[in-house]
Amino acid sequence: MDKRPIGIFDSGVGGLTVVSEFLKILPAEEIIYFGDTARVPYGSKSKEIVTKYSTQIMNFLTEKNVKSVVIACNTVSSNSYAELAAKFELPIIEVVSAGANECVRTTKNNRVGVIGTERTIKSGAYEKYINEINPDISVYSKACPLFVPLAEEGWVNNSVSAITAEIYLQELIDKDIDALVLGCTHYPLLLNQINKVCGSVSVINPAQATALKMKSLLDEKQLCRSGNVAPAHSFFVSDNTGKFGKICNLVLPRKYDAKLVDIEEY
Ligand code: DGL
Repeated sequence: MDKRPIGIFDSGVGGLTVVSEFLKILPAEEIIYFGDTARVPYGSKSKEIVTKYSTQIMNFLTEKNVKSVVIACNTVSSNSYAELAAKFELPIIEVVSAGANECVRTTKNNRVGVIGTERTIKSGAYEKYINEINPDISVYSKACPLFVPLAEEGWVNNSVSAITAEIYLQELIDKDIDALVLGCTHYPLLLNQINKVCGSVSVINPAQATALKMKSLLDEKQLCRSGNVAPAHSFFVSDNTGKFGKICNLVLPRKYDAKLVDIEEY
């Protein structure tokens, strides 16, 4: 039994799609979330900058005495996980391996698609994990950078998001894929539009598999927070608490307020 919170972080508010799965799968756990809304997007930045920013966030979360950290951001998971895992002693979980596993389990025809930020796609991390498990799977990848501002703007169900999804995804559908990994935390916000283009293709959000992985880790290390007292979650952002509130309403079962943090101090 360990009452300390779990830290979850992302480059912005997209990581709330991961928090949403954690609230369902680990309802007794307390969560401290950090979204780097001042410096989003990470997906167009260099690996060095992504590692520097995520190290500052890890410093902030470890100061909050978290028992474990979830790197909700695919861009950080695919570029900086090794550096963070080497630097910090607490258990850190990334989202890419869980998403890749789920994808391998799902595909029947061994042709899959992965979408993510430019930095995630450039890293080749999803292909690497998928082909380590099954080298016969063909992976078709595509960066979809415009999905991030659309999600942050809350433009998830209008004609702009519909046409953007069609333009980005049709070329993957034409490759005859039967599974598509949403390799970016913001993309589940556009799920309606993505599903419309994908038809019978299975769309995989790595968040659920990541929460299940954390559950196994907490069980195995006996770090679960049990008891009858409902956890009080905390949310922090580096800028624009208003935008946090807007996305929070779309993704989480109730409204939470976010506090501002000067992350450059960490
Ligand atoms: N949250 C990031 C991810 O999952 C995407 C947004 C960004 O570019 O920062 O990769």
